[in-house]
Amino acid sequence: MRNIFVYIGLVASIANVITAKRAVPGNIVAPSAHTVYQFPDHGSWIANIAGRRNSGLVVTRADVPEAWAIDAHSGTAEHIATIPDVSSLVGITAIDDDTFVVVAGNLSLETLEPQPGSFSVWKVKLGYNTVDVNLITAIPEAKFLHGVTVFRRHKGCTEVLIADPAQSAVYRLNTNTAKYSIALQDNVHLAGANNIQLHKGYLYYASTPNKFFGRVRVSWHDASARGDFQTIFNNSGVVPDGFALSRDGRAAYMATLQQNSVVRVDLNNDRHGIVTIYGGENSTDIPGPTTVILQREGRRNTLYVPTNGGLVAPVKGTYTEPAKVVAIKI
Ligand SMILES: *[C@@H]1O[C@H](CO)[C@@H](O)[C@H](O)[C@H]1NC(C)=O
Ligand SMILES: *[C@@H]1O[C@H](CO)[C@@H](O)[C@H](O)[C@H]1NC(C)=O
Ligand SMILES: *[C@@H]1O[C@H](CO)[C@@H](O)[C@H](O)[C@H]1NC(C)=O
Repeated sequence: MRNIFVYIGLVASIANVITAKRAVPGNIVAPSAHTVYQFPDHGSWIANIAGRRNSGLVVTRADVPEAWAIDAHSGTAEHIATIPDVSSLVGITAIDDDTFVVVAGNLSLETLEPQPGSFSVWKVKLGYNTVDVNLITAIPEAKFLHGVTVFRRHKGCTEVLIADPAQSAVYRLNTNTAKYSIALQDNVHLAGANNIQLHKGYLYYASTPNKFFGRVRVSWHDASARGDFQTIFNNSGVVPDGFALSRDGRAAYMATLQQNSVVRVDLNNDRHGIVTIYGGENSTDIPGPTTVILQREGRRNTLYVPTNGGLVAPVKGTYTEPAKVVAIKI
């Protein structure tokens, strides 16, 4: 069990902090950014984020098994759900308007290890004045469920893919029938792959512990591999965590966890240049960014970046703060 703990972006010793050699700061006009919401409590940790209509956001927390709705306009937050019998929420994705799939399980924030067999997948549905929280299924075979993304809608059912970095695998789950199985497994290319996104027939994956980012074409039928695994970068100085793809698929916006930045990865040509667009190793703008989502708002795109406040790798070795969500206009 090598480095199993690093997966949630729950990473790693300070010794692991490395300089992003290829991530050149300042190449892009400084984007405008502001804090949308910051939790009041030190020790808070946002694991993941999903978008709603009208500047709404939903975040999952790893320090408590809670989901919160955040209104990016008013800068307010509301607790919406607590999942029983687990310590943490991890991945989240919208499967319909105001309906979310949420991954839950036991993770020790002290040792940073997941408890294999404790992971389950839930449906959280926001109504006008109500919240329905329902177990879809436990996946007791899973060792560590992390990122989740929509695979397809088929015969009235929504299927999702869920990364299991500890098994170098990706599960496919039908959220209506609760049937699940491993769709992809590869001990090299999915080793520690904790974040996944589907775009135009390709599954993109990022491994925080092994510091690579890649993609593979997958079958629309069952999400099995339909081609070679393609490494986009590997040990290029970036510690990749959650990411979002631009709509045209020409770029990925990625959180770099203990490098405290968001980088843009060029997917348009084979060099795959990496440029820092916000934050930086010694910057307290976004300590411990865990992922990125891209929302279209009017004619502009906004990146929403949640953080863990630098809890595991404090900025300059000392600075931590409560978790927050920052909006970056691009
Ligand atoms: C999570 O850990 C707690 C404390 O050890 C335990 O009581 C609970 O059953 C665990 N949950 C699952 C789903 O295994
Ligand atoms: C990344 O590079 C390492 C060291 O060269 C290699 O062992 C590993 O297989 C590579 N991983 C991927 C996904 O390309
Ligand atoms: C961050 O600060 C350290 C210590 O002062 C310094 O060695 C390092 O070069 C700085 N990194 C950047 C990207 O400025």
